[in-house]
Amino acid sequence: MSDAVILLTDVRRSFAQGGVTIDVLKGVNLAVEPGEIVGLLGPSGSGKSTMLQAVGLLEGGFTGSIRIAGEEAAQLNSNGRTRLRKTALGFVYQFHHLLPDFTARENVVLPQLIMGRTRDEASDRAAELLSRLGLGQRLDHRPSQLSGGEQQRVAVARALANRPRVVLA
Ligand SMILES: Nc1ncnc2c1ncn2[C@@H]1O[C@H](COP(=O)(O)OP(=O)(O)OP(=O)(O)O)[C@@H](O)[C@H]1O
Ligand SMILES: [Mg+2]
Repeated sequence: MSDAVILLTDVRRSFAQGGVTIDVLKGVNLAVEPGEIVGLLGPSGSGKSTMLQAVGLLEGGFTGSIRIAGEEAAQLNSNGRTRLRKTALGFVYQFHHLLPDFTARENVVLPQLIMGRTRDEASDRAAELLSRLGLGQRLDHRPSQLSGGEQQRVAVARALANRPRVVLA
């Protein structure tokens, strides 16, 4: 068995709209190994976001095999996808989606509390991650008090907080 953290085999997705069926993903195969950085390029409408939805376990409706961190995800129901998403995946969105009423540090603490870490452990890890990203002097700032790039770096720290095998950005 491959130790790929993302392994797609013959992944397919079609959309039926107004009597017309559009085949968007037509048998995608992809293996991403630990430590690899992969960029997805293609024209508008070619299926990049659809493929990210498959790997991000955000939706069902795909056929073929989607293995994330060694676990077959294609046949999981919504609860199973949510569990695997929380343990194996971190997300950095185009818009940061930070919680506006919480500080940078608290935004990085919260996902760790959900995974059962103590507040002290989570707070220490948040400070360490934010410092590594150059935000050691911004721990107590709220998102509205940060620049756009600083906000995105907080989102990166949040995505890494629970040590996911895969980060989707
Ligand atoms: N829910 C849906 N219902 C019907 N068609 C859809 C749906 N989602 C996507 N499509 C179609 O699938 C195709 C691929 O869409 P997708 O969003 O994956 O493209 P993309 O490569 O991310 O494009 P862009 O670079 O413009 O973001 C498009 O032609 C779109 O119209
Ligand atoms: Mg897109």
